[in-house]
Amino acid sequence: MIHKISEYISEEKLDKRIREIAAEISKDYAKKEIRLVCILKGSIFYTCELAKRLTVPVTLDFMSVSSYGSGTESSGDIKIKKDLDESIEGLDVIVVEDIIDSGNTLSKLIPMLKDRNPASIKVTTLLDKPDRREVDMNVDYVGFEIEDKFVVGYGLDYDQSYRDLPYIGIVEL
Ligand code: IMP
Ligand code: MG
Repeated sequence: MIHKISEYISEEKLDKRIREIAAEISKDYAKKEIRLVCILKGSIFYTCELAKRLTVPVTLDFMSVSSYGSGTESSGDIKIKKDLDESIEGLDVIVVEDIIDSGNTLSKLIPMLKDRNPASIKVTTLLDKPDRREVDMNVDYVGFEIEDKFVVGYGLDYDQSYRDLPYIGIVEL
């Protein structure tokens, strides 16, 4: 697919903000070890960039979930397409998301992960669209709050395309 894409958040701005979040998390988790849980596929870029900048020990695991229902709106229920490889019992977990929109996905996922008895669980998201929120969600570390616009790049897709862009862009449809 080829669309005209306009830059919305530059690579430099993303880099600077991820550094800030990494510093904040590294301070909050001093003397601890973090299990980063990357929610595939969208969070893969943010997870890598964040992990590289953390100064505390980190391990990684990956999970893929999808919401039931059709269209671009996410519905109430989620399905685990790929589960974590390892147990998170007793670990300090940070779930890494690309974007929080309605909040439906995370509001279902977090209780599921809490049932596995991690020592603690927090959430970081690169992007947040607070205007779209349908369920109240506590997000601990937010990269950028954005307007209600459909964005791509840095892991985020439009029909699986444009994940590879090094910046966040808006597709001109
Ligand atoms: P929600 O918070 O459950 O509504 O869903 C969040 C998920 O919807 C994200 O993890 C993305 O996969 C997808 N999503 C929401 N907004 C966008 C967008 O602007 N661009 C690309 N994907 C999006
Ligand atoms: Mg996603």
